[in-house]
Amino acid sequence: MSKPFNDVFLKACRKEKTPYVPVWYMRQAGRYQPEYRAIRQKYSFFEMSEIPEVCAEVTRLPVEQLGVDAAILFADIMTPLKHIGVDVEIKSGIGPVIANPIRTEQDVSRLGELDPEAHVPTILEAVKILNQQLSVPLIGFAGAPFTLASYMIEGGPSKNYHKTKGLMYAAPSAWHALMQKLGDMTVVYLKAQIAAGAHAVQVFDSWVGALNEQDYRTYVAPIMRYIFNELRTTGVPVIYFGIGAGHLLEEWNRLPVDVIGLDWRTSIHSARSRGVDKALQGNLDPSLLLGSWELIEQRAKEILDQGMEQPGYIFNLGHGIFPDVKVETLQKLTSFVHEYTSR
Ligand code: CP3
Repeated sequence: MSKPFNDVFLKACRKEKTPYVPVWYMRQAGRYQPEYRAIRQKYSFFEMSEIPEVCAEVTRLPVEQLGVDAAILFADIMTPLKHIGVDVEIKSGIGPVIANPIRTEQDVSRLGELDPEAHVPTILEAVKILNQQLSVPLIGFAGAPFTLASYMIEGGPSKNYHKTKGLMYAAPSAWHALMQKLGDMTVVYLKAQIAAGAHAVQVFDSWVGALNEQDYRTYVAPIMRYIFNELRTTGVPVIYFGIGAGHLLEEWNRLPVDVIGLDWRTSIHSARSRGVDKALQGNLDPSLLLGSWELIEQRAKEILDQGMEQPGYIFNLGHGIFPDVKVETLQKLTSFVHEYTSR
């Protein structure tokens, strides 16, 4: 017998009343799970999402193991880039590394277009398989243009995004052409995930906090507005997340997006007191999961008390789960969130 569909997460995205606060975790499929590590030994990172059954299994595992209210498709923000001419590899412990960084207008013009049915059929197949198997919503996702561009331009992870901003300031027409190409890719990729059955999507703009408000408005906000307007036509909730981007909240609140994902630096109270009227998601510091259970519970309570003051709140971490966190800690936290907020 299949379980009835749990739509608590989707209700919270739409700011509707829920029987309890829904919870899921960024990077809920990952190296903290012994089962993930075992599967990962057999495949390269990208192979895992290229085999639909493996992708579906890895996506499903944390739902069964932790009891979370949503699944997130197993892939990476870099996955579609391979198909538009970016030579990317995921190096364990480092992150995405690019062999042919984008540095000139010519490099930008050489990038191709994503055709999801032709380029990522296995990911769309995994979405369909998951829809048969899951009784919680499936979150599709993509990287946002600034964050993708930062890897493409730097050639890998970066601390200061100097080359990225260098291109932005020195060659604005190349920059805007790159944003448009990546924006179009993000739209077709997410629309294909939604057509295959994703119930919501999250756009990861992890590194955009490197920009100040003025530059965000000039160089990034127009493409984000374009992406979110396009996604709005699908009717599924859209979440926008970034790290160290608290100073951009007023800008984000003006975008046509449903949910804002906060990192641990900005409290739910302070976001709301600054006029943010979207649904909110977050934001326990992922490193706090190494602290005592008493500390974890106390901090989770503080966040939940703020979150529950209004409908439209989803519990999550402020960033992804680190590999050294115990599965049991996340199981305990998930049960706690459900029990503490059930009325
Ligand atoms: O959240 C999930 O469970 C879904 C899968 C998912 C992954 N990456 C799997 C992954 C999602 C949503 C992402 C998003 C992602 N990837 C972001 C945005 C969110 C964030 O973390 O800021 C970014 C910036 C990336 C780029 C990337 N890919 C990084 C920084 C890393 C980690 C490098 C490391 O080894 O610590 C990756 C690799 C990656 N993506 C892993 C996983 C499970 C670990 C890779 C492995 O198994 O070796």
